[in-house]
Amino acid sequence: MSRIIVAGNWKMNKTHEEGRELAATIAEAVRLHPPACELVLFPPFTAIQAVREGIGDCPIRCGGQDLWYETAGAFTGEISGAMLKALGCSCVLVGHSERRHVIGENDALVAKKLRAALDAGLQPILCVGETLEQREAGHAGEIVASQATAALESLDDAAARRVILAYEPVWAIGTGKTATPEDAAAMHAQLRSTLERLFDAGIAGAARILYGGSVKPANAAVLIGQPGVDGALVGGASLDAAGFLGIANAVES
Ligand code: PGA
Repeated sequence: MSRIIVAGNWKMNKTHEEGRELAATIAEAVRLHPPACELVLFPPFTAIQAVREGIGDCPIRCGGQDLWYETAGAFTGEISGAMLKALGCSCVLVGHSERRHVIGENDALVAKKLRAALDAGLQPILCVGETLEQREAGHAGEIVASQATAALESLDDAAARRVILAYEPVWAIGTGKTATPEDAAAMHAQLRSTLERLFDAGIAGAARILYGGSVKPANAAVLIGQPGVDGALVGGASLDAAGFLGIANAVES
């Protein structure tokens, strides 16, 4: 299995029928030309089942975009990790910047969700990233380190090994702006040293850290080619097969 992951976060896009069709188109292309990376799709909850049908037996993983931290009960509108598992999901996004900055999730809630994902047997992709003001004030490194620390510090080593991280600068998401490859590499290095401080060098070295923020076929190879960048979490460009596959196929074997 490749270390590199290309993940498509569809956000609030695609009905279940549209999702099934897009997943089937991607799966057909992947069967013909398997890319040199692991693929994951994050459809909206309502499309997960149809997307799984579209994927069929193709080795593409499916995940939820969020979860609630309790296992069941009176939480109107929420979805548990067990519900995602039952639909065949193997992973889940936690702490995406739109959850943090549009919906208002704080570090404490993100930490509870991360723990719930692990308890449900899902592999979390923990998203961290600074805003433009934080970057301009010179606080980017400190912000991502503190977001990662808040979510991870209570985990034991075995749990920490199961977490994938995604560095997603808020100012680069859906804006067409990307971090320079050097900035991305520097932030990934910062996150890896945070992991080393919290756990050990083995866990830090093995951890997969994805970059997200306006990744497209044209910039994927250079971003994913940076040292310490283990793949991409893709929003807009993952909404059509050509964009998603163009990024997946930019990964060198
Ligand atoms: P974008 O979104 O690729 O549209 O910038 C990335 C993300 O939010 O994961």
